[in-house]
Amino acid sequence: MKISFCCSNTQPEPWLEGLRAALPLADISLWQPGAALADYAVVWAPPQAFFDEQSALNGIFNIGAGVDALLKLRLPAQAVVVRLDDAGMAVQMAEYVCQAVIRHFRQLDTYAQEIRAGTWTFHKPRQRADFPVGIMGLGVLGTRVAQALGGFEFPVLGWSRTPKAQDSIKCFHGAAQLPDFLRQSRMLVNLLPLTPETVNILNRSNLQHLQAGGYVINVARGAHLVDEDLLALIDSGHLAGATLDVFRTEPLPPDHPFWQQPNITLTPHTSARTLREDSIAQIAGKLAALARGEKIAGVVDVLHGY
Ligand code: NAP
Ligand code: GLV
Repeated sequence: MKISFCCSNTQPEPWLEGLRAALPLADISLWQPGAALADYAVVWAPPQAFFDEQSALNGIFNIGAGVDALLKLRLPAQAVVVRLDDAGMAVQMAEYVCQAVIRHFRQLDTYAQEIRAGTWTFHKPRQRADFPVGIMGLGVLGTRVAQALGGFEFPVLGWSRTPKAQDSIKCFHGAAQLPDFLRQSRMLVNLLPLTPETVNILNRSNLQHLQAGGYVINVARGAHLVDEDLLALIDSGHLAGATLDVFRTEPLPPDHPFWQQPNITLTPHTSARTLREDSIAQIAGKLAALARGEKIAGVVDVLHGY
């Protein structure tokens, strides 16, 4: 089995060493233009030239959960596209979203500012029941986040494309139920894949359905959010603020107004990082399962875009 590795934003050597250790019988190499045809590819943000040349691939392993960038390229029609499913990302996402929800709910930024100013003040404790958390996307990551928030006894709602029934999550699905889901949410967590159906979904007309004092946590993709709509709803006072991990342009340009908005907390696309060892173990396990003719998780439905 021949595997070609082509990742634009990572040091290739540790990946190549790890893949070779996990798959000792495979012939694994870093892609160079003109390389021999491979059976499988391990990629992140490869150039179109990679797929133009690698026309015989049976499978493409994306070393991330989101495949929006990959699906913009022309891919060999016969290749299955496989994304990371969890591989250590779900617990990181649960940590990140819980800290953002709790930081806002417990007014920890306000306390930190007051302490820095030398002020010792108490604020009236707020009621969890007044802070229902709506999660857009109840997939691998959204479900784990929902469970973690449930552990802190927040009321949790979820919205997905197809119907779900999950204990302790109030489930909504489809475009028709989106306004109801939003109206019953005060804090909104976005964990949708970026697809033609979900691009710009965090826009003024949707976000204004959130309860007054709403709070947005975007950990999926920057192109889900209409930046100027978020800023306008914070300026108007309808939204209390946001925690944003992903942006239309990354790194966030120095002149972007998000940098200056005090009620927006920014992080540099770090909420759930690809973990090399976990990812290699998952890819090696899936290649072995495919060789045995078994079904694997994480196969992307190219028509739906996730
Ligand atoms: P997933 O398992 O594929 O889950 C996607 C969820 O979104 C599913 O519940 C799906 O509904 C729902 N969905 C898709 N299209 C929808 C639509 N049009 N309307 C309503 N719901 C829709 O994906 P995942 O592994 O949880 O990852 C989610 C996203 O997180 C990734 O695509 C990526 O963009 C982002 N991510 C970000 C980071 C980061 O560091 N910031 C890290 C990893 C991933 P069904 O269940 O009905 O199919
Ligand atoms: C990161 O954003 C991923 O999609 O894995």
